[in-house]
Amino acid sequence: MAVTTCIFDAYGTLFDVSAAARAAAAEPGRAMLAGCWQALAEDWRVKQLSYSWLRAVAGDHTDFWTVTQDALDWALERHGLDGDPELRARLLALYRELEAYPEVPGMLAALRDRGLATAILSNGSPGMLADAAASAGIGGLLDDCLSVESVGVFKPARVVYDLVGQRFGTAPDQVLFVSSNGWDAAAAAAYGFVTLWVNRRGEPVDRLPGRPALVLPDLSGVPALEVF
Ligand code: LAC
Repeated sequence: MAVTTCIFDAYGTLFDVSAAARAAAAEPGRAMLAGCWQALAEDWRVKQLSYSWLRAVAGDHTDFWTVTQDALDWALERHGLDGDPELRARLLALYRELEAYPEVPGMLAALRDRGLATAILSNGSPGMLADAAASAGIGGLLDDCLSVESVGVFKPARVVYDLVGQRFGTAPDQVLFVSSNGWDAAAAAAYGFVTLWVNRRGEPVDRLPGRPALVLPDLSGVPALEVF
């Protein structure tokens, strides 16, 4: 069946998760952060994802905003920055208004011009997703923001991917699922979505049961894909 619906992962795919640490490091009086912001951003992200998977496996769900704060606290302590509550608050505020990658608005507009439905499917809590979409100016280019909070477990649990068919009435092969997270793309492919992995960092493909059918270096080529 033809693809009718384009579903995007949020963090790392539409929104640049390193933008918060990068922006804070450029502010006056942040010399310590300026020396380690890339490593801090990486640790923050790795712990955020690890905690989401561990909570899913353990059946101990909490919302993604709590997980994001827990991961930041771990990363700040690792880099000797845990004694700066103002920095913590600033990084969290910036995370609520992450930049979208530059190609995102034009790409979403082109998909909608073609009559395709567009939505986010994310671990993010509804409030986080609403804030990020609004600050990036893309809220009007999306039909919906679907959050795992409605099923109470993080990706890659299958019930999360079920949310797409429940919302749009689609079969999996009518959905283009787009993620820059290799593990998310693998799970989506195994689920049966037509899956695009956005491999921004030139990484090896994840050795997991599903393999994405499509790979691009960024999102700019999405509207021209032959799956539509
Ligand atoms: C999300 C995480 C995986 O947005 O980045 O769901």
